[in-house]
Amino acid sequence: SRQKKLDNMDIIELAREKPKPEFNFKTARTSGKVIFETDDLVIGYDEPLSRPLNLRMERGEKIALTGANGIGKTTLLKSILGLIPAYSGKVTRGDYQHIGYFEQEGEKDNRTTCIEEIWKEFPSYTQYEVRSALAKCGLTTQHIESQVRVLSGGEQAKVRLCKIINTETNILLLDEPTNHLDVDAKDELKRALREYKGSVLLICHEPEFYQDVVTQVWNCQEWSTKIV
Ligand SMILES: Nc1ncnc2c1ncn2[C@@H]1O[C@H](COP(=O)(O)OP(=O)(O)OP(=O)(O)O)[C@@H](O)[C@H]1O
Ligand SMILES: [Mg+2]
Repeated sequence: SRQKKLDNMDIIELAREKPKPEFNFKTARTSGKVIFETDDLVIGYDEPLSRPLNLRMERGEKIALTGANGIGKTTLLKSILGLIPAYSGKVTRGDYQHIGYFEQEGEKDNRTTCIEEIWKEFPSYTQYEVRSALAKCGLTTQHIESQVRVLSGGEQAKVRLCKIINTETNILLLDEPTNHLDVDAKDELKRALREYKGSVLLICHEPEFYQDVVTQVWNCQEWSTKIV
């Protein structure tokens, strides 16, 4: 009789999980008017990478940083954040800043799972909240339970975006966020950045992506001392 029951059972195929990403950035109270100002800032490590820069960014601006590989775009972002010292000159940042920083490269040998990774950042979340935050970024259950290091570049980018989206920010510094993203995720990120009420400084090589998002484009080749 058990066999009969089994024979009568319909074979159902589980719908292949293909979550659509939703990147709705959480926002903090507005920042002060000045985002940053540089005073004859020269960026660089052992050697200068730029001529003295006098740049200024104000609240509400969305700026794309463009230019060839290796001219110092990431270095400029890190200098603005104070993660590395200026070669000379200085950077001043304004008040009430809640910054979301998307690094160009994730940590290399990251053995933590995606769930642990998000939980570290948001310890008050329930397991359900952690899983749904990751699923909303377009990751499947299988990805969510995997170690970050075994995921593809695009999947790892979604995990890193997940942290920024769920943090209340008023400034986004994004270092090539679109590099590994698929078309759906890129379109969704574009939509979300257009809607974002804070300020955005975005390094990106793709005009199709940034031209509908930003208010200004800064071509770093104009001040880089690297010959490209
Ligand atoms: N920690 C470091 N110590 C010394 N030199 C570095 C360091 N990091 C980067 N550099 C050098 O500084 C220069 C600028 O690097 P940076 O990463 O800012 O370029 P980028 O414009 O972001 O390039 P890409 O488009 O490839 O990301 C490069 O020549 C790089 O080799
Ligand atoms: Mg870079």
